[in-house]
Amino acid sequence: MTIVTQKRSGAVESIREGEAPLLEIDVLCVEYQSDGSALKAVDEVSLVLRTGRTLGVVGESGCGKSTIALAILNLVQAPGRITAGSIRYRGDDILTMPDHAVQGIRGNRIAMIFQEPMTALNPVYSIGDQIAEVFQIHEGMPRDQAMERAVAALEEVQIPDPASRVNAYPHQLSGGMRQRAMIAMALACKPDILIADEATTALDVTIQAQILDLIQALQDQHRMSIIFISHNLGVVSEIADDVMVMYAGRIVETAPSDDLFNDPRHPYTQGLLDTLPRPDRRGRRLPTIAGSVPDLRQVTPGCRFAPRCLISDQHCENAVPALSGLDHRTACFNASTDVS
Ligand SMILES: Nc1ncnc2c1ncn2[C@@H]1O[C@H](COP(=O)(O)OP(=O)(O)OP(=O)(O)O)[C@@H](O)[C@H]1O
Ligand code: SF4
Ligand SMILES: [Mg+2]
Repeated sequence: MTIVTQKRSGAVESIREGEAPLLEIDVLCVEYQSDGSALKAVDEVSLVLRTGRTLGVVGESGCGKSTIALAILNLVQAPGRITAGSIRYRGDDILTMPDHAVQGIRGNRIAMIFQEPMTALNPVYSIGDQIAEVFQIHEGMPRDQAMERAVAALEEVQIPDPASRVNAYPHQLSGGMRQRAMIAMALACKPDILIADEATTALDVTIQAQILDLIQALQDQHRMSIIFISHNLGVVSEIADDVMVMYAGRIVETAPSDDLFNDPRHPYTQGLLDTLPRPDRRGRRLPTIAGSVPDLRQVTPGCRFAPRCLISDQHCENAVPALSGLDHRTACFNASTDVS
């Protein structure tokens, strides 16, 4: 059986039922050591990413989004440690495969773009050198040919005058240009999966919209999958097919995008949606979710959202709600229980 889905960009894609997921994370747990205590940054996170789909990962600062991204590339470093779980790429567990195999996947089959390109780009090499290096390392291409490919890569991300910009150093480009150069570098090897961690957060709204359009156009051309990480639910709604909402290291709700935005079931997701600007609220102060995220070093027995939740009861303080549901899954004892 074939399921046909319509993306926001208008592209229609087919997913064969039973097709193996490109990436499958199973009960991933990551801990950091902080001031002598263990801090559970990622707590039993499971997800599935299919070919050509975009998964939006959303949640307040510190909820574990970037830690998941690092774990996917097996880049969690001390004081962090992956304590449980598996991350299977095309069926093979990235966490147990030999280093050389992970290196073959990292930056090649799975690429990442970061929030602040200046930290990811090397200031002492030209943009062209850095993109060309990807072709030299991963495709064994001679330097001259790799530089030609770097110019083509800059053209693909719509950097004007790529033949001369290829010689520019990162500090000579605007923020939006640098982000495009990062995307060009990430896409150089036509990865299967692009992880975009707050990729547009530092940019102004117009440039942000251009970069989102660009990522979607490139996705349609290359049929890659995207994990789009952002604390901004509005931006995620622009690009994601499926959305995963995180709170304090755990998934609290996950669903196809339309379902999540039309029928949010977890009180935290509902609160996040309420904080989005709407035309009917113009001129009024936006609501916020009262309280703040818990200290992840304090282990509490119940639902981590309980101190901020308007519908919590005693049960919530004693037990952790598990994710339940089929397509639309929610971790809340008191959420609406429609099974879909
Ligand atoms: N190197 C580290 N040492 C100790 N704790 C860390 C380290 N890196 C992250 N953490 C903690 O792990 C938790 C998750 O951090 P992470 O960076 O994954 O969150 P995030 O959702 O990406 O946040 P943001 O939206 O601010 O980028 C936070 O409580 C953070 O303080
Ligand atoms: S489980 Fe309880 S505290 Fe947690 S979100 Fe649901 S109602 Fe609120
Ligand atoms: Mg982060």
